[in-house]
Amino acid sequence: MAESMLGIKRSHRCTEVRTANTGGEVTVMGWVQKSRNKGGIIFVDLRDRSGILQIIFEESDCGAENFAKAEKLRSEFVIAVTGTVENRAGNINENMATGAIEVRAKGLRILSESDTPPFPIEENSKTKEELRLKYRYLDLRRPDIQRNIMVRSQVAILTRAFLAEEGFLEIETPTLIKSTPEGARDYLVPSRVHPGSFYALPQSPQLFKQLLMCSGYDRYFQLARCYRDEDLRADRQPEFTQIDMELSFVDVEDVLEVNERLLKKLFKEICNYDIQLPIQRMTWREAMDRFGSDKPDLRFGMELKNVSDIVKDTEFAVFKGALESGGSVRGINAKGQGAMPRKKIDALVEYAKGFGAKGLAYLAINEDGTYKCSFSKFMSEEELHKLADAMEGTAGDLLLFAADKDSVVFDVLGNLRLELARQLDLLKKDEFKFLWVTEFPLLEYSEDQDRFTAVHHPFTAPMDEDWALIDSDPGAIRAKAYDMVLNGTELGGGSVRIHQSDIQSRMFEVLGFTKEQAQEQFGFLLDAFRFGVPPHAGLAYGLDRIVMLMVGADSIRDVMAFPKVKDASCLMSEAPAPVDPKQLVDLGIEISEEVNSDQ
Ligand code: AMO
Ligand code: AMP
Repeated sequence: MAESMLGIKRSHRCTEVRTANTGGEVTVMGWVQKSRNKGGIIFVDLRDRSGILQIIFEESDCGAENFAKAEKLRSEFVIAVTGTVENRAGNINENMATGAIEVRAKGLRILSESDTPPFPIEENSKTKEELRLKYRYLDLRRPDIQRNIMVRSQVAILTRAFLAEEGFLEIETPTLIKSTPEGARDYLVPSRVHPGSFYALPQSPQLFKQLLMCSGYDRYFQLARCYRDEDLRADRQPEFTQIDMELSFVDVEDVLEVNERLLKKLFKEICNYDIQLPIQRMTWREAMDRFGSDKPDLRFGMELKNVSDIVKDTEFAVFKGALESGGSVRGINAKGQGAMPRKKIDALVEYAKGFGAKGLAYLAINEDGTYKCSFSKFMSEEELHKLADAMEGTAGDLLLFAADKDSVVFDVLGNLRLELARQLDLLKKDEFKFLWVTEFPLLEYSEDQDRFTAVHHPFTAPMDEDWALIDSDPGAIRAKAYDMVLNGTELGGGSVRIHQSDIQSRMFEVLGFTKEQAQEQFGFLLDAFRFGVPPHAGLAYGLDRIVMLMVGADSIRDVMAFPKVKDASCLMSEAPAPVDPKQLVDLGIEISEEVNSDQ
């Protein structure tokens, strides 16, 4: 039967017991990792969040009653043990923090028993993720997940301390707000008091933090829960946490500067990694041209090269066609991969097609300098030489080319570059390459909606020198927007905001809002701006993503205590779930029979 604490107190966590405690008495509490009965002596590995400690039971030390209890111990029983710390005579285990000592038990209390767990509680579990997430409270006992959750706590605590020191105020903003579409779909919450009306859960605290600037709180931050009803991926969850901040009377430089110091502190204290300041910067244009991505992974080269000029007179229909319709021909050089078997190259072509490529042209340079080339019959030897030279191709290299409109070429080669890096094992998890990507486009044209949409959000300020293009060429305007990129992942993003009402009104116009629509959706912000608004700017990080990269996790799920799976459900609590019909009546909601299951 489970016993109670009855006044005993834990003196140490398991791995806080060290050689210095030898000879002393300790009381430790935790879970039985494993128990081995060797006849007259029982060894128990006791586990808590600090690690594992070996306990020894012998009847002569602990008495018959306790020894009988110790014989019943099974994995995951919760126990309290009082005993004496001893050196492990001749049996030191170098792999354990407490490997030089053990505790000889005098007293034992079984605080609770455990059923046999559905999977072993151990590091690097091979258990399927579905099962782990169904029993997440057990999965969370595993040492690797515990380490991640502890790093997450450290990130939150250090961030708070740093920003407080820098004069930021921590202010909470509401999570039942008005729906203001920001890119992703909103999660809606029906109102009982106002039947037919809905709150939305915030996609970010964007509008409220800007209002706080209007109210004079000149430096704000919050560890904010955000909700986005969008397709999930390895680095996306429907609810996640932002380190969100906003500053008044600042420009781009000020925001980047304080954030560089924040990142430096976090990575030094948690990963003992020194970030060299200032962090490298690259304009969006350069990032696209060189890496085909607005979040380039700088841990390896394999940069894109524009060979449009080299092939401008070619008769090769694929290249010629792309150039004639205003596109480009670009390539990457997979150094030393010239001997890649045909089958593998074909797989790369298929991979490229997944990103919209119509094909992928390749030119392999054999060791003897001859070519193996998918388009050799369309080009002269001299043209091929020129192309290989432009790509800095030498014997043994594999050159891959995409020809299409720029957006497709970038997407295809940007992703191909990453795929090759994965195949060639170039991505080291303990190498951190930070990058600010700046000068994003302000607007992008949406073919679907036949209008411009905001690349970041409608409150992002244009670069002063570009604003004159708003009538003639809105797509060419650059924004005062920046992203923090680490190893090819977007850790955070932000911008200087528009604080001039004439520019804001014009932005809404270009984005296709009528005056009434803008007033209806963002009226309170626009009104606030009529009463004295300071210039302001801000940024938000995905806290989950920072932790994910710090610990080298493959999925954001490994750094959240209770994550959701791909279809946005929780396998443990089984949310979302139908509700009592009475609740729906209260809300005035009826479920249509025709709910489209893929909406
Ligand atoms: P943005 O939409 O770029 O900007 O979001 C900021 C950061 O939040 C993280 N993030 C996510 N993390 C996990 N799951 C998701 N579904 C998810 N979506 C976003 C990313 C991203 O860089 N209000 C603006 C910030 C600002 O302008 O100050 C905003 O939300 O790491
Ligand atoms: P084809 O004339 O269609 O046989 O194509 C000749 C070569 O060009 C093949 O290797 C195709 O895979 C490749 N190819 C086709 N379309 C493209 C494209 N848009 N970009 C690059 N290569 C392509």
